[in-house]
Formats: sequence, structure tokens, C-alpha cells
Amino acid sequence: MSIEYKNNILSCGGMDVTEICNKFETPLYLYDAEIVKNRAATFNNAFKNSGDKIHFAVKANSNLSILNIIHKEGLGADIVSIGEYEAAIRAGFTSDDITFAGVGKREDELSEALKRGIKLIIAESVKEVELINRLSAKNNSKAAIGLRVNPNIDSHTHKNLSAGLHNDKFGMDENYILSLFDRRKDFTNIDMIALHIHIGSQVKDAQPFLLEAKYVSNLLSKINKTEQIIKILNLGGGLGVNYENMLPGRSDYNYLMPNELADTIVPALKSTECSIHLEPGRWIVAPSAILLTQVQYVKTIGNNKFVITDAGMTDFLRPGLYDAFHPIVPVIQSDAPKEKVNIVGPICEPTDSFVENYPLQEVSKGDLLAIMGVGAYGYSLSSNYNMHPRPAEVMVENSKTKLIRRREVLDNLFEGMIDLE
Ligand code: LLP
Repeated sequence: MSIEYKNNILSCGGMDVTEICNKFETPLYLYDAEIVKNRAATFNNAFKNSGDKIHFAVKANSNLSILNIIHKEGLGADIVSIGEYEAAIRAGFTSDDITFAGVGKREDELSEALKRGIKLIIAESVKEVELINRLSAKNNSKAAIGLRVNPNIDSHTHKNLSAGLHNDKFGMDENYILSLFDRRKDFTNIDMIALHIHIGSQVKDAQPFLLEAKYVSNLLSKINKTEQIIKILNLGGGLGVNYENMLPGRSDYNYLMPNELADTIVPALKSTECSIHLEPGRWIVAPSAILLTQVQYVKTIGNNKFVITDAGMTDFLRPGLYDAFHPIVPVIQSDAPKEKVNIVGPICEPTDSFVENYPLQEVSKGDLLAIMGVGAYGYSLSSNYNMHPRPAEVMVENSKTKLIRRREVLDNLFEGMIDLE
């Protein structure tokens, strides 16, 4: 574990964070490459049966340097757009490592995917299956596809992270899936080889995965009656992490290790004789990064003390969008007394608040803070709202810092905008 205090100064991969902030300025995403590498390897090693494959959910973090580490560990990539496909390819993955999911893929994206020979396309509606069959015929190919089922299973996560209930837009009702298999001889240009299920993100225990495994193996028994039509069962992503414990020097932030997940689902799926696919995002990268920010102002309104930072919801949206809690710590620890503060950003939105009533050592203008556990859905959810340039990303690898994405400058805000005549 290598985001920790050394002599009361925060360090990342053995390097002094104050020096990194002096060099690269704030707000700044700072990654420890070692954490990404270890966690990718840990996940991959937990599923070792031949045919099993872990695809990293690129939506969690699409920085090429991060993707490249994951690629080198032998994982594949799970993408949901041609933009993510391009990111995966530029990071070193080949089409053969890539699965393409997503509820509303455009026709041009599907055509592109077929042309490029993406390994597996996960379809989420009957109309999409019919469309893939037509496009695949035009492409003179036979596409391997998976069908995503909506099982109406509660993942017991935040309502904005649920994806497996009938009032969520994802997947298909099981009846539609069965009707597609009944018609399978009509589909001359597709091979329906996989079933896919993903019921939500930030899942905290094994139970929902076990329910998924049981559901999908029951569905499979209705399809693979006389022959092994389905060869792959994809149980999606969703393994959560305990952000509350994501503090410097601590490593007890895993609710469940991948090998424990394997102990739950592998036996439940064994009799199906199918390979297992999984698409973790958060578990692999969440603890690998911190967002460094500098205190701009401290002020009191009524009984509330506000610490206003130079990072805001445009840099890190999870607290604003999901009420997510991420610990925030001073980069230099002192003996100053702790006081309860609200830590907020500069954006003109009431939800631009990282944490309320939070005990923090007394800070003042210029002090540096680190928001913990921002490696997943951090930069990838950032925006230019309020015309704020996005922050830089830096990675520490082998005791060296490496700029992995430049800080945006004002000109970037106008790229693509047509100048006035
Ligand atoms: N597979 C599918 C089909 C998904 O929809 C997702 C995430 C994943 C895999 C990866 O899930 P993970 O292992 O990362 O939980 N922005 C939210 C998370 C949205 C997840 C969307 N789908 C957040 O910051 O919590």
C-alpha cells in the first residue's frame, strides 16, 4: 500500500506529494501505478479456469497509461462506445480482447465494431439483435453476441447505481431472450454464445452475485437443453469498495476479494460447463488515485464553516451525483485541532459539496488536501461545466512521476466551437 504518510507528509509511491503539487499544480489526479497493477493482477488471478476472462470496464478510467497497465496484466477491455474502443486500442488491446456492451449503441457504432472484428457484442434488446444480424450480413461476417438479461434482482446499492430491476432500462426480460433463441435459425449472421447479467455497481457483498449466478444458470438450462448453445456466462461488474476506509496507510477497504467472489460464483456455475466473464471497473482502480486540491478560502456562515477548494464537482462528481463519501485528508498533517467543516468546490451549484460536518484539522488558504479513492469514475466523469478546464493526471511509477494527461488550458474550452465571424 503506497499512499501513506511519511513524517506527516502524504506520499504516493514513495514520493512526496507536496513536491508533486508544486511541480504539477492543483487540482491534480495522482495515481500510484503499483496499486493498479496489483489489483488488476489480483482480479485476473482469481479466475484461472481456461476460457474465463476478466475485461476491465473502461468507463471507470479511460486514461491510456492506466489502461496500458491493465492490458499488460492480461485483462481484456469492456467498452460501451466507439470512443472507448479507440481508447482501448490506443492503450494496446486488440479487437480480440474487447467486448462491446451498452444499452443504446448506434448503428454506425455497431457497423464499426463488426468491421473491426470486436470479439463479442452484448445486445440489450430484440431490435438490436435483429440489427446486428443485418449489419453482420452486410459485413459478410458472423458476429458473436451475448444477450443481456434484466433479472429484476435488487443489488442493494444506491438507486442511481442499480441496473438489474425491471424499472431500470438495462437488458431484456427473460421471455424475450427465450423467444430469440427459439428464432435462432433465422439469424444466419450471428452466433448467440453468451448470456450477460449486471445488476448494479458498488455491490458490497457476495449475495447479489450468487443470486445472479443462480438466475443465469437457471435461464441457461432453458436454452442449453440438448446442445451447448451458450458457452459464456458474463456476470458483469459491480464489486464494490469501502470508501470510508480508504485512508492513507490503510488497506482494509475491500468488502470482498476477487478470490472470495470466485469461491461464490464458480461452484454455482460449475455444472453449466460455461466460461465465466466478468467486467470489473471500480474494484481495480478506485484506491489507486487521490485528487489533490488547494484551499482557496475558509469562511463561516451562521454555524457553518466552509472550506472552499480549487477542485469541484466538475473535477470529481461522485459526491454530487451519488451522495458518495470520500475521505479528505490534509497533505501535511499537523497537531492543529480538528473542527467540523463543509468542504466545497467553486462551482455555482448547491450540490458542489464534497463532504459536510467533517472533522478536519484547522486549515487556511494555500493548504493542500487530498480526496481519497478517486481512481474509478473520477476523471472519467469530469466536465467543463462553468467553463473550468479539466485537471492534469500524473502517475507515480518506479519512484518517478509521469504526466499522463496535460492540464487543460483555456483554449481547450473552445476546441470545436465555431469562432464568430
Ligand atoms: N459492466 C456493466 C454492464 C456496467 O454497466 C458497469 C458499470 C460495469 C460493468 C462496471 O461496474 P463496476 O465494477 O465499476 O462497478 N459512475 C458510477 C458507477 C456507474 C457504473 C456504471 N456501470 C459511480 O461513480 O459509482
